[in-house]
Amino acid sequence: MTATPPDVIRCAYAELVVTDLAASRAFYVDVLGLVVTHEDSSALYLRAFEEYLHHSLVLRKGPEPALGVLAYRVRTPADLELAEAYYRGLGCPVTRRPAGATRGIGEAVRVLDPLGFPVEFFHEAEHVERFTQRYDVHGAGALSRLDHFNLDTPDVPAARKYYEGLGFRVSEDIQDAEGTVYAAWMFRKPTVHDVALTGGDGPRLHHIAFASHERHQILHICDHLGALRKSGMIERGPGRHGVSNAFYLYVRDPDGHRIEIYTHDYYTGDPDNPVITWDVHDNQRRDWWGNPVVPSWYTDASVVLDLDGHVQPVVERAEPREADVTIGADGFSYTSGQAEFKLGEQV
Ligand SMILES: [Fe+2]
Repeated sequence: MTATPPDVIRCAYAELVVTDLAASRAFYVDVLGLVVTHEDSSALYLRAFEEYLHHSLVLRKGPEPALGVLAYRVRTPADLELAEAYYRGLGCPVTRRPAGATRGIGEAVRVLDPLGFPVEFFHEAEHVERFTQRYDVHGAGALSRLDHFNLDTPDVPAARKYYEGLGFRVSEDIQDAEGTVYAAWMFRKPTVHDVALTGGDGPRLHHIAFASHERHQILHICDHLGALRKSGMIERGPGRHGVSNAFYLYVRDPDGHRIEIYTHDYYTGDPDNPVITWDVHDNQRRDWWGNPVVPSWYTDASVVLDLDGHVQPVVERAEPREADVTIGADGFSYTSGQAEFKLGEQV
């Protein structure tokens, strides 16, 4: 008999291992504008303007960049018992953490999930001031909340099945005519996703994403980085996604961790929310305007730690890779599947 999974509310926080806290602070606080809940010599605890839990991002100093943990909030304290039983039933490593083991977070269960990611479940957390109307401190690039995690994993259908077992539903995916699945977007909160599963060598963290309310806040972040002569930290975008419809920007932090700034996705909370499937050859799936995906976006990702703090081995994807079927030797995406316009031609 399959154990009952914990009732996950949403993605809640991530912990990234960084090598230089001062450099990280300059990026996450001074440029992205995240609020410092607490800082000491070993870690920074950050939140976005609408968040009232203690943090949505922990930056912990360590010897090499890595993902420390992904945390999901569960609905009740009793869900911790369900989480422990559920993952023990799956044969996964499980540890219990007392309240305060992570600053601001109550009792928690940490597991190494079947995909190889370190994942925490918690319910209780310290409340702090919600800065929603603190317009006096909002910068022009104000970020409102954590939105999602994006994970590289070799076998997307297997990962999808695991997350469906945990109660997540698919909003969108990318496939080809042969049935190869390249990526899937899955949610608990009623938006496009809490977690995206990207086909690639894994387990690795592709990115975490923060939401803003407006496009202009994303554009301001680009201008801000330009003014600092740090445009090299902009990896991809700004642009409009096909998948999710979100307006997006990908930036790389001082350690290379990828952060997405994201806005304008849509409500998915009804039980019959239609699933959107994109063809991998549709050049508007990743960028609605057809702009090419840069190769580093497909290749680079952060390694992840196990529950003892060791780097998890990375397993190569055996299935065809999205980059290989959509990016040419010149590094640019092919346009296909749609009527093509040529300069000077009337259509
Ligand atoms: Fe994303």
